[in-house]
Amino acid sequence: MKKVLVATEKPFAKAAVEGIRKVIESAGYELVLLEKYTDKNDFIKAVANVDALIIRSDKASKEVIEAANNLKIIVRAGAGYDNIDLQASTSKGIVAMNTPGQNSNAVAELAIGMMVFMSRGQFKGISGTELKGKSIGIHACGAVGKIVSKLAHGFDMDVYGCDPYLSEATIKSQGMKFIEDVKDLYSKCQYISLHIPANEQTKKSINYDLLMSMPKGATLINTARKEVIDEVALLKVMQERADFKYITDIIPDNHAEMLQFAERYYATSKKQGAETAEANINAGIAAANQIVNFLEKGDKTFQVNK
Ligand code: 3PG
Repeated sequence: MKKVLVATEKPFAKAAVEGIRKVIESAGYELVLLEKYTDKNDFIKAVANVDALIIRSDKASKEVIEAANNLKIIVRAGAGYDNIDLQASTSKGIVAMNTPGQNSNAVAELAIGMMVFMSRGQFKGISGTELKGKSIGIHACGAVGKIVSKLAHGFDMDVYGCDPYLSEATIKSQGMKFIEDVKDLYSKCQYISLHIPANEQTKKSINYDLLMSMPKGATLINTARKEVIDEVALLKVMQERADFKYITDIIPDNHAEMLQFAERYYATSKKQGAETAEANINAGIAAANQIVNFLEKGDKTFQVNK
């Protein structure tokens, strides 16, 4: 009997696990659950004899992949797959996939909620500002960025989009004003919502010059990855600009230092962008279906290590 391991340090909602179980067991496979593990050796032990693996932000490192004797497929139930060692997967002939779009709405709603939270002084009873009429730059206009654009329009914001992989026509069709050069996005927009993946091109790419160029009352919202920020530069910007605000769903490495600016800095205690029942159900069940379709029919849609 084929075995599917769900290894989630941050578990899915109960309803999502039930949905995954239904898909896996209906295919005649066995579901193995490893939730809230604190020792990566438990993950390494659990992956040894399974055929398929579902993870969230759990690290499918080289060590984990090398310990997997029967593994054929890893599905990251979510968008970003920077937590999978793609090279190690490919060299073992393991297919790696993500589930694009399945948790986007949850992340987009959080980004908007974070904007309101910051513009209203973190709900501490002080006078704030409204989003209406302010400019927002959507940095990368994929599944999440598109929804942030739609929601920002609902607040009557002036919405700009910039994405090196999308055409002017596509960005405009999503209701955003097209910006070709990322520098123009930052110099134009009071709010920037980050939706770029973490990879070799984007790491530390949100740098001092970009941040300093933002207009007065700038707010950077990060529901993407901490790695894309030059954290040393951001700290310097916070020191030099008393008007600059940063809110993030991913705790930075220099969190302790950033806390000196607590009235205009906020980090969630645990990444919660995709932490809704709906997103867990969507992404978890999509991952389970992708595994069954791959193992039964060789369907490689959503493969990311081609
Ligand atoms: C993603 O890339 O899909 C999001 O960052 C969600 O990550 P999570 O499943 O670990 O919450």
